[in-house]
Amino acid sequence: MSCDGNNATPPCPAIAPGVGSVPPAQEIDPQRAAEELRARFEGAAVDPRVPAVVPGFDAPFYQAGLAGYSDPAMRIIARRHGCPYCVTEALLDQTLLAGGRGFAKADLGQLADNIPGGAEDRPLAGQIMGSDPGEMAAAAIKMIEQGARRAGEYRAMASCSCAGQHGRAAHAANAGAPAGTVAPSACSSTSEGTFAAIDVNLACPVKKIARKARGGHWLAEPTGAIRILEAVREAVPEQIPVTVKMRRSFDDSDEMRDNFFRIFDAAYDMGCAWVTVHARTVQQKYLGPSRWDLLRQIVQRAHPGRVRERLIFGSGDVWDAGDVFRMIAYTGVTGVSIARGCIGNPWIFRQCRDILAGRTPSRPTIAEQRDVLMRHFELAIDVNRLFTRGRGEARQARAERHTARTMRKFGIRFASHHPQGEAVRKRFIACQSLDEWQAVLDEYYPLEKQP
Ligand SMILES: Cc1cc2nc3c(=O)[nH]c(=O)nc-3n(C[C@H](O)[C@H](O)[C@H](O)COP(=O)(O)O)c2cc1C
Repeated sequence: MSCDGNNATPPCPAIAPGVGSVPPAQEIDPQRAAEELRARFEGAAVDPRVPAVVPGFDAPFYQAGLAGYSDPAMRIIARRHGCPYCVTEALLDQTLLAGGRGFAKADLGQLADNIPGGAEDRPLAGQIMGSDPGEMAAAAIKMIEQGARRAGEYRAMASCSCAGQHGRAAHAANAGAPAGTVAPSACSSTSEGTFAAIDVNLACPVKKIARKARGGHWLAEPTGAIRILEAVREAVPEQIPVTVKMRRSFDDSDEMRDNFFRIFDAAYDMGCAWVTVHARTVQQKYLGPSRWDLLRQIVQRAHPGRVRERLIFGSGDVWDAGDVFRMIAYTGVTGVSIARGCIGNPWIFRQCRDILAGRTPSRPTIAEQRDVLMRHFELAIDVNRLFTRGRGEARQARAERHTARTMRKFGIRFASHHPQGEAVRKRFIACQSLDEWQAVLDEYYPLEKQP
C-alpha cells in the first residue's frame, strides 16, 4: 500500500467560488497571475525568501512526494523540464533506522526510491514520517547522513546483513540527549551534498498502525505532533531547513480545525521554514475536491496585516500549469506543490516556466514524448540496478525486467498525451522488457524523418 491508500480519484476541479473582488479560481487568467507575481517580487518568479532558504529553488512550484512514483528517475526527468525542487516519498522513520530492510510491507516509500539521484537531483527534500519523537529525530539525522553518501555506499548499506545496526547505532548515539531529541553531534556528515531540507509528513491518511499515530493522524493529536516537530527541528543542523506537510484538518469539526492551527502556528514559531497544506482533510483521503476556499482562509488568517510573513505552499487539485497560478492568485500561497498533475506529465514544469516568461505554454510533440519515455526508462534502470543483486549481464537483465514492470504505471499516464491514447495505454500495460517498451515507441512514437 502506498501513501495514497489506493483512493486516488481522477482529476476534479477544486472548490474555489468567487469571494468579494476575487473571481472563482477557474476564471483567473494564469498569465496575469504570473505577471502580478513578477511585479510583486520585482521581476523574480518567487518570493526571494524561498531561494534564500533553499538555494536553487527559483520558481513558485515543486514536485510533491508521491509514494510509488517520485523516485530519482521521475525527479530527474521533472528537473530537466524546469522543476526547481523535489521532495522524496514519505520514508518511515523505522525504515531509515533499519537501513532500508525489514519494512518492505510496512507501506510507504522504500529506501531505494528515495536515494538522491546525484548532482542533477538537487535541491531535494527528504521526507520522513513516524510515531515517536526520538525516532523521528534520529531518522532525520540518518537521512541527512545518508544523503551525503555515494550510490555504491547506499547499495552496500541496503544489502548489508547487519543493516539493523544502523538503527541501533543511531539510538546509541542519542543516549544522553534530552528526551525526544537527538544530540546534533550524532550527525557525522556535513550538510554539503545532502538533502536541502527535511520535510515532516503530518498528512498521509494511511491508517494508524498498532494504535500509534503517524502522518495525518497526528492532526488529531496536536501535542504529540508538536513534540515530533520540536524533536526534528532541534536535531537537524541549523543550516538545514525543516518543513512540514499537513492536511487542512483531520476532519471538518471545530475541534480538529483548532488542532490544525495549533500545529501550524507552532511549526512557524519553532523555526520551520514553511508548511505545505493539502486542502483536503485526512478523512477525505484523496476523495472529492480540494477546498481552495479554505486554503485561502488559512493563508488570510496567517497574514492578518496583509504582510506575507509566512511562506506557505498549497496542494490539492493542481492538474495543469494554469492551476499553479490560479491557486497562487486565489489563495495567496507562496507556491504550489504539484502532485498527481505531474505523473506522466513532466511538461507541466516547462509550461509553468512558459507562463512565468509570458510565453504561451506548448504541448509536448510526439518526438518529445518519445524522448522522455526512453530517458525515463533508462534512468529507472540505472536506479533499479543499484539495488539489483548479481553481476554483469544477468544483473542488467534483472534490472531491466524490474524496470519494465515499474514503468507500466508511468506509461499509462504518458499515454494520455498521445492522440491514440487508449491503444498506447494498452500496449504499455503489457510491456515486460526494454525491447517491448522500445517496440511501442517505434510503433506509436516514430522518429521524425530527416529532410
Ligand atoms: C500515489 C500518491 C502518493 C503520495 N505520496 C505522498 C508522499 O509520499 N508524501 C507526501 O507528502 N504526499 C504524498 N501524496 C500527496 C500529494 O503530495 C498531494 O498532496 C495530493 O495528491 C494532493 O494533490 P493533487 O490533488 O494535486 O494530487 C501522495 C499522493 C498520491 C496520489
